[in-house]
Amino acid sequence: MHERYNNIIELKEISSTNDYAMELARTESVPDFTTICTDFQSKGRGQLGNFWESNRGENLLFSVIVHPREIALKEQFILSQCVALSVRDIVALFCENVTVKWPNDIYVGNNKVAGILIENQLSQKHIEFSVIGIGLNVNQTTFTSAPNPTSLSLENDKLHFDKEEVLQLFLNRLTENYNLICSNPKQIRTRYLDFLYLKNVPHIYSDADGFFEGKITNVEADGRLVITDTYGNEKKYYFKEVQYILM
Ligand code: BTN
Repeated sequence: MHERYNNIIELKEISSTNDYAMELARTESVPDFTTICTDFQSKGRGQLGNFWESNRGENLLFSVIVHPREIALKEQFILSQCVALSVRDIVALFCENVTVKWPNDIYVGNNKVAGILIENQLSQKHIEFSVIGIGLNVNQTTFTSAPNPTSLSLENDKLHFDKEEVLQLFLNRLTENYNLICSNPKQIRTRYLDFLYLKNVPHIYSDADGFFEGKITNVEADGRLVITDTYGNEKKYYFKEVQYILM
């Protein structure tokens, strides 16, 4: 029997649950896994300053506050891996072929089902708190702006899912994986690599020098993606330094 999370603040509408959670964590001492979720965001934020598209009431849009003070700053990518794995695990209960596209997009086949935006409040030596923002496409079946979207419903013949149930499953999974960060971080890193999108598959990428073919062979502890090109050179990239060419 799993715990039921009641520490959930539900808002009909908000600009962004991440903004709300950042402000809350800054001004109040809230317990770990306090969650803010909403039916609609007017300024939902994605990575790279993009807008996060989501129809009113159809998807999960939420932010979870944690205080990972035990994670060293140079190890902070493990939180991203932990969250990505947790979303992957939950999507995999309902869909086949679920992977994590580096650094933390969740894919079903070649389509994106969920995105993650983690924002950290850092002090000199550690992370004061993190806001883990997640957009998981649940019941939406048509999209206008996202390049390659999918949802749980689209992957299941337009079946309707109970969002609240999916959120509870996720929060349980996140708690389990979050505890592993201290007790068994290797398990997080290994499972992340096991489920990495396009790992060891030849693919076209582009970097500052242009297009090239290579295979993803590893992700370093600091989060750098390692791509081995066709000449056997290992190239290492931080986020935004390399693009996957959609085929
Ligand atoms: C991405 O671009 O892949 C990340 C998307 C993250 C979207 C979620 S929705 C809930 C939370 N609030 C936001 O403003 N963004 C995140």
